[in-house]
Amino acid sequence: MALLQWSDELSVGIDIIDKQHMILVRAINLLAMAIEKNSERELLAAIFETLADYTVTHFAYEEELFDHFGYPESIEHKKGHQALLDKVTALKERFDAGEDNLGPQVLKFLVDWLTKHILGTDKRYAPFILEAMEQQRKKMS
Ligand SMILES: [Fe+2]
Ligand SMILES: [Fe+2]
Repeated sequence: MALLQWSDELSVGIDIIDKQHMILVRAINLLAMAIEKNSERELLAAIFETLADYTVTHFAYEEELFDHFGYPESIEHKKGHQALLDKVTALKERFDAGEDNLGPQVLKFLVDWLTKHILGTDKRYAPFILEAMEQQRKKMS
C-alpha cells in the first residue's frame, strides 16, 4: 500500500506545482515500497538519488516563480528549501558511507517534511502567485 496518498487537500491550486508535488509523493512511495521489500542497496540508492535530484529541480522551479513575480516571502521559503536539502544530503552521505537501517528514518523525515511543507509553506505562496499570473495574463491579452 502506498504510504502517502495524494488528495485535494495537498493541492496548492497551481497545476504545474501540483504535478511536481505528485511526482515527489510517488518517489517517496517508491522508496517506501523498496524498503518494505528489503530491496538491494543499489536500488535504494538509485531511488534515493532520483528523489534528491527531483527535489532540487522542484525547488528551483518554485524559486524561479518567486523571483519572477517578486514573492515577498521568498527569502524565508528559500531558507526552508535549503534546510531540507542539507538534511537530505546529510542522510544520503550516511547511507553512501554504508550505514544501514536508515530507511525508516529517511522515510519518516521525508513524509513529515513533504506534507508539512506542501500544506503549510507552499500553500502560503499560492494566492500570491495565482494573482500575479492572472495579472500577467490580463496584461498580455
Ligand atoms: Fe516549497
Ligand atoms: Fe513545493
